[in-house]
Amino acid sequence: MKTLKTAIFPVAGLGTRFLPVTKSVPKELLPVHDRPLIEYAVDEARAAGIENFVFVNARSKKALEDHFRPSPALEAELAAKGKAAALDKVRQPVLGDALKVVYQDQPLGLGHAVLCAAQHVGDQAFAVLLPDDFLLCDRPCLKQMVEAWRFSGGNMVATVDVGRDAISAYGCLDVAHGTGRLLAANGMVEKPLASEAPSTHAVIGRYILQGSVMAALAATRPGAGGEIQLTDAIAADSAQSKLFGFAFEGRRFDCGQPAGFAEATMTMPGLTAKGLSAAA
Ligand code: G1P
Repeated sequence: MKTLKTAIFPVAGLGTRFLPVTKSVPKELLPVHDRPLIEYAVDEARAAGIENFVFVNARSKKALEDHFRPSPALEAELAAKGKAAALDKVRQPVLGDALKVVYQDQPLGLGHAVLCAAQHVGDQAFAVLLPDDFLLCDRPCLKQMVEAWRFSGGNMVATVDVGRDAISAYGCLDVAHGTGRLLAANGMVEKPLASEAPSTHAVIGRYILQGSVMAALAATRPGAGGEIQLTDAIAADSAQSKLFGFAFEGRRFDCGQPAGFAEATMTMPGLTAKGLSAAA
């Protein structure tokens, strides 16, 4: 059976759309509802069977790593006061040795960020999760994808049909044909002009990729926006690996910008006008 054990979380972005908050607080630690954004992506990966969590971080965002490490002084204080529920919340995110951190010291693009994690992937298939894409799903998106990928193999990207007006803000899938949620594709193009987009199916930040994509990334030159694009490496790898879009069941919010955070928070079940409902 095909296995997927490693996930890469590109989190080095400086969050300029959230300034001044992100001057000292990593964007990924801002809360959606009652938990930091990054926890949702990590929990989604856990639910899909991921065992190795590779953060591609910036050196100025160490707080992000601390969130997933033990906090002995705080834990001792909460334990002494008998605050069991609070203690659980502090301990729940801890990843221990499963957390690996590499640093992306230059903002050269998403493809470059993923390549920074190559030493933790080897030639095995791996997942990439972009925490800014907050996904509200009954069944976690990556788990849905893994179940489909065990049959399809190849490279797989989550997709949403965003329509022609919005497609130029995304990676776009060149769809060949589709059956159910699985879309067989010929290739992908990063941020095409609306008039030239091969489809209206946008790539959303969940990927299952073959190890060969790392070699493709190493050979990828800067593309759209002058950045090394993950999309271009996946497109290049489609010469040897099948490529699929997966129209996941659920809803996506763009938490790369403040309005998306607000919308996601208000849409989460369990939030009422008076605060958290008893059931939350
Ligand atoms: C990145 C990817 C793009 C994808 C998008 C999803 O773009 O390069 O292909 O569609 O994430 O959120 P960014 O939003 O970083 O410009």
